[in-house]
Amino acid sequence: MKRFKLPLAFAIAAVLAGPALAADPATIDWKGVPAKTLTLFYPAQSTYQWLNSSEHPGAQMVKTGGACVTCHKDAEEKLGNKLVKANKLEPTPVDGKNGSVQVNVQIAYDNENAYFRTQWKTRNNYPGEAYPFLRFDGKEWKPYGNQKLAAAIRKGEQPGIYEDRFAIMIDDGAVPNFATQGCWLTCHNGERDAPKQPTTAEVQANPLYQAIKKNDVRKYLPSTRTDALASWDKGRSLDEINKIKAEGGFLDLIQWRAHRSNPVGMADDGYVLEFRNFDAGKNPFSSNMDPKSKQPKFMYDEKKTGKKALALDDIRKMPTALVRGQNEAPFDPNAGWKEGDLVPQYIVSREDAAGSAADNKNVKGVWKDGMWTVVWVRPLNLANPDDKALKEGKAYNFGFAVHDENMTSRGHQVSFPVTVGFGAKATIEATKLK
Ligand code: HEC
Repeated sequence: MKRFKLPLAFAIAAVLAGPALAADPATIDWKGVPAKTLTLFYPAQSTYQWLNSSEHPGAQMVKTGGACVTCHKDAEEKLGNKLVKANKLEPTPVDGKNGSVQVNVQIAYDNENAYFRTQWKTRNNYPGEAYPFLRFDGKEWKPYGNQKLAAAIRKGEQPGIYEDRFAIMIDDGAVPNFATQGCWLTCHNGERDAPKQPTTAEVQANPLYQAIKKNDVRKYLPSTRTDALASWDKGRSLDEINKIKAEGGFLDLIQWRAHRSNPVGMADDGYVLEFRNFDAGKNPFSSNMDPKSKQPKFMYDEKKTGKKALALDDIRKMPTALVRGQNEAPFDPNAGWKEGDLVPQYIVSREDAAGSAADNKNVKGVWKDGMWTVVWVRPLNLANPDDKALKEGKAYNFGFAVHDENMTSRGHQVSFPVTVGFGAKATIEATKLK
């Protein structure tokens, strides 16, 4: 028995000395954490501008900050089933897409972290871990495959390929109307796959988009626009936007990605303000395209994967992510490339991720028997200016989204806003771990 003495003494000393040890998510007894089932639904093109227009019978109440659930309580499944098929809000329906998905949510915390465990059934009998590729056409490497709302995929010219994702939006009360209207505040005409999408040239000619050096319109908050309809092209000045940010008037948007973060046990970390931004620092994923040579930077390591590139047939049969230090080799332009060879568009790396963009370092999704189970560790009390710090004693407004069945942009299922409390009254009250 003697040999156990020293480690035990160390363990006791560690517990007495420092802050409480954070729970290892693998050892959390999730049976002791109550589960809440949320129904997420397909929103089609129900943008902020549509919701506030005379076409939406609820517009008057939406304008004064009224809650969606005042009129649409428990209607998620019905709304989703209608909106996913061809209708006035869905000009490009995707065959076989489900209108709603049930997500099982469990939330716990200790003195250091919040822990989220979420589960949902995928539409397909495979995990959506693949992402569009770079394809060699005999001369050049070009993007290949895309999400199912994209024109080339709808026309059947290329296969529908996109990574599954689970996204969490967090408001601490500083974003007007998020508590009542949730992620619909961020969804606007002009965004990708939304009505009235501007051309790239139009976006590039806009002062705000010039200032932030972006070529397309993505999620933004109404507070960052000057007109009552919060139009994409009526941006405030960067000074005004920075002031809103300093006052906390932004949303956290953190996303687990089956291809671009899960292989390295991470999620990304972003925020929504004038654009859907990533936090300062570096993401766990970066482009695999060398802009100078117009060739990939990396290929698969033949010694480890048995091939330098994949063929279309390989997808869905094996993991496809190119992971730094695991299965990658520097690209060899003279390796005898043939038409149809595929290498990933992104390189995924835990080591390269840095700064506030790398806060979600312990997020693991496992797909089994048609279901993803994602366990997510989010540190409490983050002090970065682009994070919403989760704190004990406080409640927050959350929005959840699932991207499934090879779709991105608006082709996801979303929740109405829900409150989450950490030692505070809320719809979902996180369980404090002992
Ligand atoms: C004052 C009540 C009211 C409020 C508040 C309200 N709506 Fe509606 N909404 C309606 C009515 C009524 C319809 C017409 C269809 C129906 O009866 O469900 C409708 C239709 C819709 C539709 C189209 C569905 C269809 O059947 O064509 C969507 C999507 C929608 N609302 C989303 C929202 C969202 C998101 C919010 C919150 C930002 C919201 N609504 C707030 C009353 C409301």
